[in-house]
Amino acid sequence: MKRAGVLTGGGDSPGINAAIRSMVRFGYQHGVETIGFLEGWKGPIEDLTQPLSMDQVSGILHIGGTILGSSRTNPFKTEGAVERILDTLERNAIDFLIAIGGDDTMGVAHRLAPHGVRTIGIPQTIDNDIAHTDYSLGFWSALEAVTDALDRLHTTAFSHNRVLILEVMGRDAGWLSLMGGIAGGADVILIPEQEFSVEAVHRKILRRQARKKHFSIVIISEGAKPAGLDGQVVAEAEVDAFGHARLGGVGQYLANELSKRMKMPVRVTDLAYLQRGGSPCPFDRILATRFGVAAIEFALDERFDVMTALHGTRIEPVSLEEALRKPRPVDESVLYLVDLFD
Ligand code: F6P
Repeated sequence: MKRAGVLTGGGDSPGINAAIRSMVRFGYQHGVETIGFLEGWKGPIEDLTQPLSMDQVSGILHIGGTILGSSRTNPFKTEGAVERILDTLERNAIDFLIAIGGDDTMGVAHRLAPHGVRTIGIPQTIDNDIAHTDYSLGFWSALEAVTDALDRLHTTAFSHNRVLILEVMGRDAGWLSLMGGIAGGADVILIPEQEFSVEAVHRKILRRQARKKHFSIVIISEGAKPAGLDGQVVAEAEVDAFGHARLGGVGQYLANELSKRMKMPVRVTDLAYLQRGGSPCPFDRILATRFGVAAIEFALDERFDVMTALHGTRIEPVSLEEALRKPRPVDESVLYLVDLFD
């Protein structure tokens, strides 16, 4: 019998529990038992564990969030934390560790490899900013929430002749804003990859007015950068253990600037955690199940320091070194959609 450890770190997203369920069930069939570590990397640092039996993962396929809890703990920022992780893994006789998370969580897994820890990553982030996988877990579920929000905003926007701005997550990559904006028919799409000018947004709204469209919907990533402003708009300047400030407020910034230039009322909705919570969509349930199975298969094949990746219809291993080298911005296959319709 082999023993796997699993932890979930960073911002949660729908589908994590489906991945845990899958690896536990598939593991049992192939001689692997799984121990859960609680609250991200805090779990192995403090030896916070939870046995994961078949019973414990029953009924969680459709439940959002993570039954293991999450945190943004960075062991490389705390004196002695790496040694404590190594002790915990030895004490619990862990053969390999599966880290479900974004670049920060999987980055720690990668940095533990030279310490002899055998790790596998499962990419999970609604931002979809992990390179070398077509999609990360959670993205399509969040996209549903964004699309639904835009549909709802449309009916009230046209009833009141307003400009409605929807701010969505996306620190450095505009996948949610762009794909959501296309699916929900936003009139203006603003993403972190392209600096935006308030004047250009204003001109677009005026062009719509000239065509007798007396409302406009703008979707904007929290990480979008206004021209003339020094960097991104932050809600809290204090940075977390991975050096990220909490973003937020760029939608309100844009609303204030537009209001100086036009009479039409401008209102902001911040979708915030409503886009990250809730049940996984079918795509994420299936992707999670396949990622969970693949993580166990890679481990049984002794392929470590890799992450599970979706390439077309196949799940394949990608080295964590390669996957984490740089973030994945919105790519050419969809970028042209940003300004497709005037
Ligand atoms: O990491 C994903 C993400 O959803 C980012 O888009 C966002 O900036 C961040 O999480 C916010 O998370 P929290 O408020 O939980 O730290």
